[in-house]
Amino acid sequence: ELERLGASIGRPVVVAPVTASTNDDARRAASGGAPHGASFLADAQTQGRGRSGHAWHSPAGENLYLSVVLRPKLAPQALPPLALVLGVCVARVVDELLGASKASGPRAGVKWPNDVLVDGKKLAGLLVETALRGGAIDAVVAGIGLNVHASSFPEELASRATSLHVLGGRGLDRSSIAARLLVEIGRTVRVFEANGLDPFLAELDHRDVLRGVPIDVSGISGTAAGIDREGYLRVITSDGATHRIGSGSVTTHGP
Ligand code: BTN
Repeated sequence: ELERLGASIGRPVVVAPVTASTNDDARRAASGGAPHGASFLADAQTQGRGRSGHAWHSPAGENLYLSVVLRPKLAPQALPPLALVLGVCVARVVDELLGASKASGPRAGVKWPNDVLVDGKKLAGLLVETALRGGAIDAVVAGIGLNVHASSFPEELASRATSLHVLGGRGLDRSSIAARLLVEIGRTVRVFEANGLDPFLAELDHRDVLRGVPIDVSGISGTAAGIDREGYLRVITSDGATHRIGSGSVTTHGP
């Protein structure tokens, strides 16, 4: 499938029935010299990880757990925007799978810094980890957890999570979804290396689910006001000041 789709990455692809965390598999491989695009998939994870030390619900047979080794020609400060660009890749593939048309506009939204939401619920999360060598990026591991077949979630996630199946996606096959993601990521990382975030800003704006929403992030309460060309989240506080946030977890208020 990867060959047919003309993927520039995804060699090799290592598929495991079960692993601790595909991000750990990819990190280990990266430190052993794995090439740009080497990919790790598992049917289930026993220690799936999310951001800020959270566990990532990783039962067998249901969802996509994919980690890709990337060796982009980028300076370390270009990493936060890379995570946003990867979120855009996932959102594009999700729109295709849900049959969202250009006319009806995107269904998949991006929640800074790197969640993918549909109808206000989380469909996918990204965990981007980096290995530096001598102040330069040696490798980036991009971990993607995408809910595919799940029809129910543990109680604590039920109100916040969704899956492609729940959203009415058809013909869902995890290997072919992985292949489509790899094609999109391979292509998009090249565009980002050459041009930075600029070619993605309009789309990010379109998909930004936080714009205009009251939020708390990094000790600041205000209204989210878009993403700038360095990947910072702009937040406007009640005194009218604009803050630029480089990293953190966003909490939204209300329903
Ligand atoms: C988040 O939203 O907090 C990020 C979740 C990332 C989950 C994926 S699943 C594949 C890869 N392996 C992991 O242990 N985590 C990532």
